[in-house]
Amino acid sequence: MKIIVTGGCGFIGSNFIHYVMHKHPSYHIVNIDKLTYAGNLENLKGVERKSTYRFIKADICNSIAMKKVFDHYRPHAVVNFAAESHVDRSISAPAVFVKTNVLGVSTLLNCSLEYSVQKFLHISTDEVYGSIQRGKFTEKSVLEPSSPYSASKAAADAMVLAYVKTYGLPALITRSSNNYGPFQFPEKFIPLVINNALKDKKIPLYGDGRNIRDWIYVEDNCEAIDHVLHKGRIGEIYNIGGQNERENIFVIRAILKSLRKPASLIAYVKDRPGHDRRYALSIAKIKRHIGWTPRTSFESGIKKTIHWYKSNTPWLRNTETGAYRSFYTKYYSKMGLSE
Ligand SMILES: NC(=O)c1ccc[n+]([C@@H]2O[C@H](COP(=O)([O-])OP(=O)(O)OC[C@H]3O[C@@H](n4cnc5c(N)ncnc54)[C@H](O)[C@@H]3O)[C@@H](O)[C@H]2O)c1
Repeated sequence: MKIIVTGGCGFIGSNFIHYVMHKHPSYHIVNIDKLTYAGNLENLKGVERKSTYRFIKADICNSIAMKKVFDHYRPHAVVNFAAESHVDRSISAPAVFVKTNVLGVSTLLNCSLEYSVQKFLHISTDEVYGSIQRGKFTEKSVLEPSSPYSASKAAADAMVLAYVKTYGLPALITRSSNNYGPFQFPEKFIPLVINNALKDKKIPLYGDGRNIRDWIYVEDNCEAIDHVLHKGRIGEIYNIGGQNERENIFVIRAILKSLRKPASLIAYVKDRPGHDRRYALSIAKIKRHIGWTPRTSFESGIKKTIHWYKSNTPWLRNTETGAYRSFYTKYYSKMGLSE
């Protein structure tokens, strides 16, 4: 099987490439990534020399470049991870989210139609549903995205489903809850907490810290995506949840405790505008159709994750340059914190 993976230098995409190359050694992977601030070639150390792997630096919005890649490689399947993915950035600069997350997806959909791709798997998010006070979102829940990020992902989901209905494109969607694990860029909650704690830096915490996320260990998500790619039904959406709901303050305290750092590092900051209070996903459908359930408890996943970041301090250091640094300098001063 030949798979185009887009955004394969980011957090989940790189974990997925490692997972697939290990599980299906005969598969060929073509990784298309623009290498934005979030794309890191270091995440693929060890696979880059394999004959079954190719990396192409390109923008999914560039239809000429995409056509060339599809024409040359004639993939059986496409798994689309490429996206602008950080909610805070979407609030300060939404345009690039619309461009990559909507226009980029439609470019990939057009190429997939033209080159008769057999499966187009679009990676979406639970954030498209918005916030829920009680109960859990199912795949039939109404979409009420709160941020420009989640709105752009919801628009992309609608495009994917429209291509299934209008053109018969064999496409499907996964919507996962919050991932954590190795290779996550340290602007995101869990690696940010670990990184700051390791350096005895203040840890910004929005609002009252009681927002709830359903955490999934990234390898569990990769396993679920692989199952959906092989066994998922065309035109369907599959929620992928970790079944590990935790308040943000709980997550920070668990990390501080494990690193033996003081709670005084926590700095409460003004809440993010439109901040969703709680995400919670029903995974009944993926259990029923595919037989998948998550393997990793939050306690064991966070232990493995902390260990990974502690053992990969050069990786962490290398991410703290360029765009990351200037973005965070501004971010910290806006929040009234010094770095
Ligand atoms: N991280 C999570 O918790 C989470 C949860 C649910 C869904 N998702 C979705 O999973 C996908 C991957 O998320 P992630 O956390 O790995 O993101 P990430 O930001 O770590 O990685 C995104 C990757 O896409 C690449 N990219 C960005 N714009 C591109 C473009 N125009 N052309 C080609 N490549 C481009 C970047 O260089 C980067 O390598 C996203 O679609 C995201 O919406 C993420």
